[in-house]
Amino acid sequence: MRNFVQKAVKKIEKLDREQILTLINLLTEDIELLETILNSMDDGVIVTDMEYRIRVVNKTARRLLRLHPGELIEKTVWGVITDQETAEFIEKQIKRDDRIVEEEFYTDKGSGTAVLSLNTTPYVKNKKIEGTLLILRDVTEKKQREAQFRRAENLASLTTLAAGVAHEIKNPLASIGIHIQLMKKELQGSGCIDKESGEEYLAIIDEEIERLNSIVVDFLFAVRPMDTRLKSENINKLSEDMLEFVKYELEEHNVTTELHLSPTIPKIEIDQKYMKQVLLNIIKNAIAAMPDGGILSISTSRKDDRVLIQVKDTGFGISEDNMTKIFEPYFTTKDFGSGLGLTVVYKIIREHGGEIALDSKEGEGTTFTISLPLPQSERSLLTWEEKGVGDQ
Ligand SMILES: Nc1ncnc2c1ncn2[C@@H]1O[C@H](COP(=O)(O)OP(=O)(O)OP(=O)(O)O)[C@@H](O)[C@H]1O
Ligand SMILES: [Mg+2]
Repeated sequence: MRNFVQKAVKKIEKLDREQILTLINLLTEDIELLETILNSMDDGVIVTDMEYRIRVVNKTARRLLRLHPGELIEKTVWGVITDQETAEFIEKQIKRDDRIVEEEFYTDKGSGTAVLSLNTTPYVKNKKIEGTLLILRDVTEKKQREAQFRRAENLASLTTLAAGVAHEIKNPLASIGIHIQLMKKELQGSGCIDKESGEEYLAIIDEEIERLNSIVVDFLFAVRPMDTRLKSENINKLSEDMLEFVKYELEEHNVTTELHLSPTIPKIEIDQKYMKQVLLNIIKNAIAAMPDGGILSISTSRKDDRVLIQVKDTGFGISEDNMTKIFEPYFTTKDFGSGLGLTVVYKIIREHGGEIALDSKEGEGTTFTISLPLPQSERSLLTWEEKGVGDQ
């Protein structure tokens, strides 16, 4: 509100008729300006009182939630939403009386389905909560773009993976071919194969078929969509459990362990089964990188709205050249490695909305850093405290 309007309102009993009319005109102008701004916003805005009755609503909110036409002021928010499911959702959410951050939901927009994102904040005046502010955003297109991007990314990794498989199956197939040719030749020559070499050829063919089979099984694991079941888990406990699990292997390889676990780390949403596999694959690589023993340390910490898990070894490290290749399917420097260990790690971490980075120095060691998102509830707490939202 304009400064002099505020002053004039305070001295209203001293104003004459003319001055009051001017004041009302100015106030009306201000209200109209605010309404124009509100109605030209891309976001839907609804302000309610403590009983969730509408005090302010803009055009976008009317359109996005398909609110009943006509006067809405003083009516309960969910009571004026056309779509029953959306009405129930909004009622449930705002009655939680908690701050909601980017809670996405589907709604019937009349001509199809839309994905909306809901934010709510308590509306504070003179340090007292007076109601709720709801902000709604249409994220349908953003979601579609993300899905397209994921599909393209999946397709690209599938192409590399398929090329890898094609390369991998070449050797066993060639070997099977050669041994069949050898058997044929013997048959054509003497008309029969002696028992010993016949058995030897068949054993080799059998082995190669087994190799082909495991290539296909590994491939399928790497490409199949994962059915991750996220549950709130303690990542410190998981790290301890994993080290306990490989205790004997660590002892056998003279590897000592260190744990630096942050006691204040919140629980995070993960699929324990898959995350165990991530740690196991990284730990196994670390052990293999320390043939003469060394130190394996796991640390956990929190950075902004993410949780970090670091696995560090004092092994022989990775050359700069290989650093860009280690997540690629079938890349291995080991005689009996499948080269899929880190591909699977990468896939699982991405599936959890996380990232993985590495730092390595030849002759000194390697550190893998996994970063996973904090659950929404923890994040909103952070913004709330940082920005002091609502206590203006
Ligand atoms: N901690 C590490 N130190 C040094 N090199 C590593 C480390 N972790 C991974 N590597 C390198 O990355 C390569 C790929 O690792 P990945 O786990 O994908 O496959 P692998 O270990 O070779 O085979 P598999 O995991 O199937 O047994 C390894 O062969 C190794 O060269
Ligand atoms: Mg490995």
